[in-house]
Amino acid sequence: MKAILNHPALYQAYQNAGGFFGARIKAIAEYLTLRPGMRVIDIGCGPGYILRHLPDGIDYTGFDIDEAYIAHAQRSFGHLGTFHCRRFDAAAAKEFAGADVVMMNGVLHHVGDDELKTTLADIRDVLKSDGVLFTLDGCYQEGQSRIAKWLLDNDRGEFVRDRSGYDRVLRDIFAKVQLAIRDDYSRVPYTFVIGVSQK
Ligand SMILES: C[S@@+](CC[C@H](N)C(=O)[O-])C[C@H]1O[C@@H](n2cnc3c(N)ncnc32)[C@H](O)[C@@H]1O
Repeated sequence: MKAILNHPALYQAYQNAGGFFGARIKAIAEYLTLRPGMRVIDIGCGPGYILRHLPDGIDYTGFDIDEAYIAHAQRSFGHLGTFHCRRFDAAAAKEFAGADVVMMNGVLHHVGDDELKTTLADIRDVLKSDGVLFTLDGCYQEGQSRIAKWLLDNDRGEFVRDRSGYDRVLRDIFAKVQLAIRDDYSRVPYTFVIGVSQK
């Protein structure tokens, strides 16, 4: 299953079928303000499908370290934004400084605390003073459905946390962190944590 998800179109089909992709669209609509002209950086953009659901007129740049995902994104959505097969690091933060929004959909749970703190510090540097980091991830929660827990236990990401685990790592770098837990977003039982963080 995990190997199958490395294929961009099959990954997206799985996201659609479970309602996990719909969850991203709902969370962005509910927790993030996007306006034409805003500079948006999407770290761990995967095959790039979210770009179809963002407002016209935003200036979108996607980063991912997976070549197949970025090749697919460039082929399918290269007319709507720019994609880089590149790790988002301090050099990228300098090069792309002045972003209004950084989004990380389903990425924090792929990165361990030490590496994540470095990446979050780079994100803090790339954002404007009033810029926003938007994050969405699977989340452990006491009393959650067994299906949700099983999916999280078997996720490709090895660093699924509970709410306090995400809160801790985000607060280490960002002054303002707001987290919301949602278990009503997907077709398949699942617990999401949505984060909105600012300097
Ligand atoms: C679960 S996928 C999420 C893809 C997409 N954002 C979505 O919503 O479906 C996580 C992605 O993060 C990427 N990733 C993990 N660490 C990264 C890093 N340091 N820089 C860029 N991409 C990274 C992986 O290659 C993978 O494509």
